[in-house]
Amino acid sequence: MTNSLADSSAEVTANRAWRLRRRPAGAAVPGDLELVSEPVAPLEDGQALVRTLVLSVEAASRIWMGHQRAFMPPVDLGAVMRGVGIGEVVQSRREDMKVGDIVAGFVGWQEFCCADDRRLEAPLSVLPSPLPAPVSAFVGILGHPAITAYLGVDFLDPRPGQTVVVSAAAGSVGSIAGQLAKLRGARVVGIAGGPAKCRHVVEDLGFDACVDRKDPDWAALLDAALPDGVDGDFENAGGPILDHLLMRLNLNARVLLCGEVAQYDDSGDRSGWQGLVNIDQIHMQRATMRGLIVTDHLDRWPEAIGALAELWGSGQLRYDETVVSGLDEAPSALTDLLAGDTTGKLIVAVAEPSTIPGHPLTTSAA
Ligand SMILES: NC(=O)c1ccc[n+]([C@@H]2O[C@H](COP(=O)([O-])OP(=O)(O)OC[C@H]3O[C@@H](n4cnc5c(N)ncnc54)[C@H](OP(=O)(O)O)[C@@H]3O)[C@@H](O)[C@H]2O)c1
Repeated sequence: MTNSLADSSAEVTANRAWRLRRRPAGAAVPGDLELVSEPVAPLEDGQALVRTLVLSVEAASRIWMGHQRAFMPPVDLGAVMRGVGIGEVVQSRREDMKVGDIVAGFVGWQEFCCADDRRLEAPLSVLPSPLPAPVSAFVGILGHPAITAYLGVDFLDPRPGQTVVVSAAAGSVGSIAGQLAKLRGARVVGIAGGPAKCRHVVEDLGFDACVDRKDPDWAALLDAALPDGVDGDFENAGGPILDHLLMRLNLNARVLLCGEVAQYDDSGDRSGWQGLVNIDQIHMQRATMRGLIVTDHLDRWPEAIGALAELWGSGQLRYDETVVSGLDEAPSALTDLLAGDTTGKLIVAVAEPSTIPGHPLTTSAA
């Protein structure tokens, strides 16, 4: 967390990129990736050069480093690490992107990305100008994590008198999901790692209770925090926590499978795995379990961003960021995230914007 930000005014001759060196065995470690310096090729027609401003650090990176069956293919060995971020267009030979445009999408873990729709996994989208919020907000409270929370809570459809449980409750998705469920009148119980995080979830985020998953008695504590059972489960953890919660489901409960971070270190070989032994409770309680991938619902992003901006702007929604400075720190930031050492949205601040000088890079700088 010591590197200073890249000098945005320097001429672009070389790119620095984190490439996948090997697939992690168990927990990801920084040595799984390698920082390489390489020349920037001259642009061709239909291409733009995008300087990364911020990178979003997220649990899904661990999936992509491995070879699990997932919603996107594994990152190839030797390829630039896949990652979502916000960048500024610094050179362009595209009709639809001009220098100074701020763009969002899969820019990768690198200083510069060639925006070429024929080569990228998904086209980058141009954000509104002037940018209505700090740059980092577009991978946080106005970006995919908060939109995931919004769509997931919409599916759970919590009502007053009901109980919603949220795992990874202090994280970027969970913190927003719990607050949104609370705004809909439900009793909200969080699950987080460690007493300090649990205090933060209750005292700062306004959840009704929070259970420490690292406490050896977590299962009994969870039962005690759920005297009326579970009507909605916003599931970020998977593994034993999900299995335990299945036994607490009420009739007609809803389970939103947002993530299964407890399982992301799997080798992908499930042959000897016991799995969810309580899965029968979906049947017995006539519950509905649904998986969500936020990018499947781009049609609802404007609605979600509008609602989140309103709630955040009016102070009804608290949004926290942990900011790490410098591209060099991206792998250790991911290790910290997966170890549960961060709260809120984890951002790598890569470069100050040069085309919109003075515009805040992160929400804490606003
Ligand atoms: N479906 C979608 O479209 C979508 C989009 C974005 C993110 N997600 C998912 O949302 C979840 C949150 O992701 P994020 O990127 O925002 O990260 P995050 O919640 O900010 O950080 C991940 C958190 O997971 C918790 N965790 C780590 N290991 C765990 C374990 N073994 N058991 C239970 N919890 C564990 C840690 O919190 P504690 O130590 O406090 O428990 C850690 O802080 C992930 O499951 C991710 O895959 C899904």
